[in-house]
Amino acid sequence: MSVQIGNIELGEFPLLLAPMEDVSDPPFRYVCKQNGADMMYTEFISSEGLIRDAAKSRQKLDIFEYERPIGIQIFGSDIDHMREATEIASLAGPDLMDINYGCPVKQVACRGAGASLLQDIDKMVAMTKAVVGATHLPVTVKTRLGWDDNTKNVYEVAERLQDVGIKALTIHGRTRAQMYKGVADWSMIRDIKKNPRIRIPIFGNGDIDSPEKAAEWRMQYEVDGMMIGRAAIGYPWIFREIKHYFKTGQHLDKPTIAERIEVCKTHLQKSMEWKGPRTGIFEMRRHYSNYFKGVPDFKEFRMKLVTAATVEEIMDILGEVAKKYAFEMA
Ligand SMILES: Cc1cc2nc3c(=O)[nH]c(=O)nc-3n(C[C@H](O)[C@H](O)[C@H](O)COP(=O)(O)O)c2cc1C
Repeated sequence: MSVQIGNIELGEFPLLLAPMEDVSDPPFRYVCKQNGADMMYTEFISSEGLIRDAAKSRQKLDIFEYERPIGIQIFGSDIDHMREATEIASLAGPDLMDINYGCPVKQVACRGAGASLLQDIDKMVAMTKAVVGATHLPVTVKTRLGWDDNTKNVYEVAERLQDVGIKALTIHGRTRAQMYKGVADWSMIRDIKKNPRIRIPIFGNGDIDSPEKAAEWRMQYEVDGMMIGRAAIGYPWIFREIKHYFKTGQHLDKPTIAERIEVCKTHLQKSMEWKGPRTGIFEMRRHYSNYFKGVPDFKEFRMKLVTAATVEEIMDILGEVAKKYAFEMA
């Protein structure tokens, strides 16, 4: 059965690209979309930044037609500011708005935003209601199981946020206290999915990193779709690999060196187009080792790639990579 968020049709069992700060920008989203991501989100955007018209926050509002459907994710601690930020972000023309109630990092969660709202559900409900009322777009939420082991309240959160009008909920199977440690536990996500009161799509998130795990957890936890974050960094093929495995039970061949180089070049190209050549080249540096993870003796090339200052140099180095590994890893 096709999953629907408001009027957005996502097909059966959609795979979502997770919002990730400093990662899920338009260049990265481009390569994920090419490889099968069904829906994507921007990096989280500070509501305060949007209101102040800060350049960094504004830039994160950039979305492109080929990315649709795409959601803009915002976070904040002040309800009025969240309302105002929703109005500003909606004007950028996304397909939906998403609220971050999951971010565990101190600068966010200790300033009353992100996951800290899990400690004050009344405020979370009021904030969500304000956001829903401030836009014509569907609103989704991303959150965690709860603040810590003693307060895993996402079951209540799901019911109450549905009651104020959210159209889908993504749950990362960890508490705030866990940060990214331990193993994600999706059992509460299944409980919510089985709650007869819940009618909105429920997406599972946390630790999906292979087609087998995706297939197993799909069966085991009965979610409507999955959101994938870290496993897509430097490996956007994860989306098409999972889809292929769902369809056929067979593994798609791993990307060849030539494919890795091709996607890396596309990412770099998009990065330069969007950020300008200088910043584009600089910010691409963090991605090279991910694209070539597992390639033996790659260190020497990585060192060259992260110090190269021009696109010509980078292309030459990638040419050397192609030559060296063409036969070994074809
Ligand atoms: C580098 C990084 C940045 C992240 N930034 C965001 C963010 O901006 N908004 C958000 O909701 N979650 C953010 N997350 C959390 C991810 O969306 C996701 O919930 C988490 O990584 C677990 O999923 P995974 O195991 O598939 O990576 C971030 C995670 C990482 C690793």
